[in-house]
Amino acid sequence: MTGAESADTPATAPLYPPGAVLMAPLSGYTDLPYRRSMRRHGCRYAFTEMVDAASLYYARERAAHMLVRGEDEDFLGVQLLGGCHEFLKAALDILNEYDFDVLDFNLGCPVPKVTKKCAGAELGRHVEEALACFALFPQRSRHRLSAKIRILSETDPEPTLTLARGLAELGACAITVHGRIKDAIYSGPVYYDIIAEVVKTLPGIPVIGNGSVRSRQTAEPHFAAGCTGVMAARGAMGNPWLFEEFMLGDAFVPPDAAAVCDEAGRHIMEMVALYGETPALRIARKMLHDYFKHRGFGGALRLQASRISTVEELQKLLTEARQVVLPPRE
Ligand SMILES: Cc1cc2nc3c(=O)[nH]c(=O)nc-3n(C[C@H](O)[C@H](O)[C@H](O)COP(=O)(O)O)c2cc1C
Repeated sequence: MTGAESADTPATAPLYPPGAVLMAPLSGYTDLPYRRSMRRHGCRYAFTEMVDAASLYYARERAAHMLVRGEDEDFLGVQLLGGCHEFLKAALDILNEYDFDVLDFNLGCPVPKVTKKCAGAELGRHVEEALACFALFPQRSRHRLSAKIRILSETDPEPTLTLARGLAELGACAITVHGRIKDAIYSGPVYYDIIAEVVKTLPGIPVIGNGSVRSRQTAEPHFAAGCTGVMAARGAMGNPWLFEEFMLGDAFVPPDAAAVCDEAGRHIMEMVALYGETPALRIARKMLHDYFKHRGFGGALRLQASRISTVEELQKLLTEARQVVLPPRE
């Protein structure tokens, strides 16, 4: 069975059902332990971190750890980044050796080291070239295809619509639209009116709204724009309970300090098992910070979190943090 024919998502079925809540690909975050933490709280649709086509071409062994799929993951997308045809072709061939439920093309990354090579959001701005790159996907890939784009103008829907339509014509079976332009990076308003135009121009193709999804309430404007689903990014960082909040609605009860510490501990110990103690704890500091922030854990604990380097220090910190009485979340 190929990734495109997995039992749960036959190649002809819509990729995402109405109301789907996706976990965004997040570079430096959405590895297997991260995704498992999200999945424990109800996340079904998740992605690998973005994988650079050139890294797959030049350093396959090092990049391949990002392609690991847990046997417990029943839906997993992979996201590919790149703007060079040669690297993209090679990467598409390599990805054919793996099973994914969807292969997503990154046309939204605004990071300078990516955009200066005319990949990510910069490639998205050059619509013809972006489509020429994406045309390689159906030619070479056995996976179902999607793309994640940014809006190209805050005032004129046309350029975004041209890009979205072109991707759909080439076989994208879902389009995620981050409602901010490249230069806004991750701040400023989300332009739901442009997202709504994309929805209108792509009847029958799930459009996933992205930008500032931090709760059920902040997802509403995306659904009002007609999106099939939403993709959470920063709103789910350190907050896998976001998926429970969507599932349970008003019955959702935010986690107390013990629940936050249990989840953080489990997540980070899975990283330790995968990467080893020292490398795992170096990466885990930012995750701990995310678990603690905006919850009332206090500056001293957050400072301690930014310094941990052993499992013993982690356990001591979590034991202390468990005792905190968190204020009710707004
Ligand atoms: C740390 C970080 C890493 C990200 N990595 C990726 C990535 O690998 N691929 C991608 O398409 N977007 C990536 N993004 C962008 C997010 O997926 C999302 O589009 C963006 O954060 C806007 O959503 P938000 O306002 O809900 O955070 C990243 C964002 C952040 C903050």
